[in-house]
Amino acid sequence: MCGRRTCAPGKTYVKLSLMPVASYQVRRATSADEMAAAVALRHEVFCREQGVPEWEELDGRDHEGIHLVAVTDQELLGTCRLLRVGKTIQFSRLAVRSDARRQGIATALLALAEDEARALGARRLVLHAQTYALKLYENAGYRARGRVFVEAGIEHQAMDKTVD
Ligand SMILES: CC(C)(COP(=O)(O)OP(=O)(O)OC[C@H]1O[C@@H](n2cnc3c(N)ncnc32)[C@H](O)[C@@H]1OP(=O)(O)O)[C@@H](O)C(=O)NCCC(=O)NCCS
Repeated sequence: MCGRRTCAPGKTYVKLSLMPVASYQVRRATSADEMAAAVALRHEVFCREQGVPEWEELDGRDHEGIHLVAVTDQELLGTCRLLRVGKTIQFSRLAVRSDARRQGIATALLALAEDEARALGARRLVLHAQTYALKLYENAGYRARGRVFVEAGIEHQAMDKTVD
């Protein structure tokens, strides 16, 4: 299991454990190739691993979004998408490659998302968490809102976080 570390958006993280990821960076996707790799990872994780229909995963809104990625020198390890709706940022499509999980990559992407939201002048981040991963978001300061519901055949919980 990975060693604990503080996540600082835009920084390079060096991993001090036996897991395969040596170091990675979290930042915005910067090229069409990187964007394609992010969409391919989402397809692998959501459609193949979790059985989400492709039409639901590809909702036609990618062009509106800011896409964040976790990358090593050679590989894309994780991604997420931010959509701006007024003063609110909708956080979604968080996916980490299966062999790179439990090393803080999702946590680092959440931290960068918050930084981006602040820079955009947003007041709130909202998301639909898969219930098995609630702790990930609770650890990042998100609060549950309302009841658990089913989306794409998977249990979800709406959560939000106010941006300071
Ligand atoms: C959920 C997901 C994004 C987490 O990515 P990750 O990089 O492994 O997450 P982190 O390493 O930052 O995890 C931080 C904490 O979140 C919680 N967490 C992460 N994955 C978890 C899991 N599978 N089950 C329970 N808790 C989990 C843990 O508290 C973890 O801390 P720990 O490793 O010290 O126990 C990743 O497992 C994934 O891509 N899953 C498939 C797609 C998906 O479910 N996306 C999220 C939709 S809401």
